[in-house]
Amino acid sequence: MRQLVIAIDGHSSCGKSTTAKAVAAELGYAYIDTGAMYRAVTLYLLEHSIAFDDLPHIEEALHQMQISFKRNRKTGRNELCLDGKVREDEIRQMRISNSVSEVSVIPAVRHALVRQQQQMGRKRGIVMDGRDIGTTVFPDAEVKIFMTADTHTRATRRQEELAVKNEVVELADIIDNLEKRDHIDSTRAESPLRRASDAVLLDTSHMTIDEQVDFVLERVSAAL
Ligand code: C5P
Repeated sequence: MRQLVIAIDGHSSCGKSTTAKAVAAELGYAYIDTGAMYRAVTLYLLEHSIAFDDLPHIEEALHQMQISFKRNRKTGRNELCLDGKVREDEIRQMRISNSVSEVSVIPAVRHALVRQQQQMGRKRGIVMDGRDIGTTVFPDAEVKIFMTADTHTRATRRQEELAVKNEVVELADIIDNLEKRDHIDSTRAESPLRRASDAVLLDTSHMTIDEQVDFVLERVSAAL
């Protein structure tokens, strides 16, 4: 069967990765969480005390760091590795969420990661979620979804995800973080968060995960 590229973009914490993962599993496709890659660069810069405006050192760091994904055999989850070490838990912490949008505006960072993402999807048969997949990484994706949800719903979901990892964060702080990130992500000069003209809008505020997955799978069937 024809192998497609499925691009799922949208606002922070509206269920993109949960839906994308389930769609990939259903189709036997690879799944790439591009947000994890921007989070990994942020973690690297913070750990190496590289300032976000120190371009020469950022460029050197981009050459040095190795970002990859490894499948956890126990959970079946694709986990982010930085320099060969699984760093999934650290990249999801609030300290990274609070800085990642500042790092993802840097053109050198975007160029390096977009290139790597295009390489990862060159054989197609992939579901990729992020902010610029349908507009910049794979403008020729056969299926493009733009997901959103109301802020309160998104923040509550994020708070629950963090609680599972024993990170207790006030709802107001999460709302503040989501709104700031969405603002920076949609107003940056380089590949801003925006709906591609041919992307289908999916508001997940009142949808279950199963309904979201079915919605995407219907678009896939129509594209095959
Ligand atoms: O998807 P997630 O919320 O983990 O993404 C974290 C951040 O990474 C986003 O807020 C955005 O700043 C950045 N990002 C991006 N382009 C992508 C994916 C994520 O700029 N394709």
